[in-house]
Amino acid sequence: MTAIRTELVGQEATEALGAALAAVLGPGDVLALVGPLGAGKTTLVRGLANALDLPPHVPVQSPTFTVCNEYPTRVPVLHVDLYRLGGLEEAEDIGLPERFADGRTLAVIEWADRVPGLIPEHALWVRLEHAPSARHVTLAEGGGADVSWARDLPGPAEGTTWTAIDAPMPWDS
Ligand SMILES: Nc1ncnc2c1ncn2[C@@H]1O[C@H](COP(=O)(O)OP(=O)(O)O)[C@@H](O)[C@H]1O
Ligand SMILES: [Mg+2]
Repeated sequence: MTAIRTELVGQEATEALGAALAAVLGPGDVLALVGPLGAGKTTLVRGLANALDLPPHVPVQSPTFTVCNEYPTRVPVLHVDLYRLGGLEEAEDIGLPERFADGRTLAVIEWADRVPGLIPEHALWVRLEHAPSARHVTLAEGGGADVSWARDLPGPAEGTTWTAIDAPMPWDS
């Protein structure tokens, strides 16, 4: 088994998955998010940051133009958006590899498949896809490692279960 998959019905389920991931991830961990515009990437980050006691006045938005944003959460969350980033060289110019490696923040990266060479090997990949009034989500570890542990995550919603699938790397679908 290389990946697990489930359905997230409604925005709250996506937020709940973010919160569940906040409970098992910590400083130095990397969450690589993949999926088209509107798939729910930022919604997941919002659920994750709220679960880490994000102050209520701090907005969670894709840092599309600023590339990264750090939140004053219990574990500092580094919210990265690679949508407009040119490539690995530009990521190096702004010091992203060092920030992923310094072990201080939990990094969550939107559009991680845009610069796959930047994403650390130990990242947990999360792919979100549109479904009618819901989203499909797939979890896989870098290198296609076993993510069966993630099936014990609380949520994402009553009555939904994770299904093991034999998927290729999550970013090539
Ligand atoms: N599981 C879901 N079911 C239905 N709608 C969802 C779900 N998760 C998120 N959404 C909705 O999708 C829209 C886009 O979400 P957003 O997080 O901004 O996407 P992205 O960051 O991937 O572009 C929002 O209106 C959000 O409420
Ligand atoms: Mg977004």
